[in-house]
Amino acid sequence: MTFRTLTDEDISIQDNAIRGTNEDAAMSKLSSVNTGYIQDEYIKYFLKRPTKRSPIINIGSYVRNKGLDTLIIKFLEIEDGKKQIVSLGAGSDTRYFNLKSSSRKFHKYFEIDFPENTAKKVAIIQTNKELSEIIGDDARIGSEIYASDYCLLSGDLREFIEDLVPRLESNGFDRSLSTLFLSECVMIYMDPMDSNKIVEWIGTNLNTTMFIVYEQILPNDAFGSIMLQNIKLRNIELRGIHAYPNLESQKDRYLSRGWIHAEAVDMNEVYDLYIDPKEHIRISKLEMLDELEEWHLLASHYCIAWAYKVTTESQKVLYDSVKFENYKNKRPY
Ligand SMILES: C[S@@+](CC[C@H](N)C(=O)[O-])C[C@H]1O[C@@H](n2cnc3c(N)ncnc32)[C@H](O)[C@@H]1O
Repeated sequence: MTFRTLTDEDISIQDNAIRGTNEDAAMSKLSSVNTGYIQDEYIKYFLKRPTKRSPIINIGSYVRNKGLDTLIIKFLEIEDGKKQIVSLGAGSDTRYFNLKSSSRKFHKYFEIDFPENTAKKVAIIQTNKELSEIIGDDARIGSEIYASDYCLLSGDLREFIEDLVPRLESNGFDRSLSTLFLSECVMIYMDPMDSNKIVEWIGTNLNTTMFIVYEQILPNDAFGSIMLQNIKLRNIELRGIHAYPNLESQKDRYLSRGWIHAEAVDMNEVYDLYIDPKEHIRISKLEMLDELEEWHLLASHYCIAWAYKVTTESQKVLYDSVKFENYKNKRPY
C-alpha cells in the first residue's frame, strides 16, 4: 500500500484531525472510569462533559489501560537506578498524576504533544488546584510546564531529533538514565520514515531503554479495511499500519534497529490471559457485553508491543521481568 504525496494543506487538515483523536481517547477513558472499569481521579478534569460509550469501547479502554499500566509499573520497579519516562503524543494522558498519587518512584516524566494540545493541557493544570499541587510549587508554567519531576513540551514529533531532543536535554532529560518511551496510539499516525527516526535515535543514543507501544494492526482483513475506512472519514490515515501490520513486524521494527529484545501481543491475549480472573468477574458485573464476537474482532486489531536495549547480562535479566503474568491456569471457572 502506498500513500499519495500530501500537499501542505492536506498535512494541516490531517494534523488537525490527529490532534482531535486525543479528545476521543480521553472521552473513552472517562466513560470507562465512570462505568467502573478503571480508576482515574484526574481524567475528568480534561473534558468538559462526560459521554457514555458502548460496552465494547469501555472494555477496550480498560484492557488498553490495564495492559500498559502493568508493563509501565514493572519497568518502574526494576532496580536499575533512576528512571525517566518520555510520553510521545501524551495528549490528555493522566498517567503522571496517577503514578505520583500512587507513590510510584521515578526521576522525571516528560510529555510531548502538538502545541495546540499542550496549550489546553497547560491551561487545565494551571487552573486546577489538585493537578498543580501534584506538580509542585516549584513548577514554571508558561506555554509549557517545567517542574522538578515533570515537563510538558510542545512540538512536532516529526522534528524529534532536531527540535525536541535539544529541548528535552535542556530540561533535564538524561541519556545515561534508564528511560521508557511510550507511544499510546501515536506513532501509528506518523509516516514510518519519521517515527523510525525516533526509534533509531533512541536505540543509537541510549544504552538502557525501553519502548512500549499501543496501536492498531491487521489492516488487510475485512474488519481492518472497515476500520481504516471509518478513520479516513475523519480525515485521518494510519500511516504506520501497513509497515507494521502484525505482531511479527511490530517486533522486527525494534530488533532490526539494534534493540535486543521485543515482544508483541494482541488485546485478546492481554484480556484472556494476562488480566487477573478476579478482575474478569468484577468487570463482567459492570454492564452487559452482548457483542462478544465484535469485541474479539476489535481486540485482535490492537496490540501492545514492547522492546528494550541494555548492555549487560544482569540488566537483561532485570528487563526480562517487564512482561505479563499469565493467569491461564489460575482461573476459578
Ligand atoms: C490518540 S491520541 C493519544 C493520546 C494519549 N497518548 C493517550 O493515549 O491518551 C494521539 C496523540 O498524539 C499526538 N500526536 C500525533 N502525531 C504527533 C506529532 N507528529 N507531534 C506531536 N504530537 C503528535 C496527537 O496530537 C494526540 O494528542
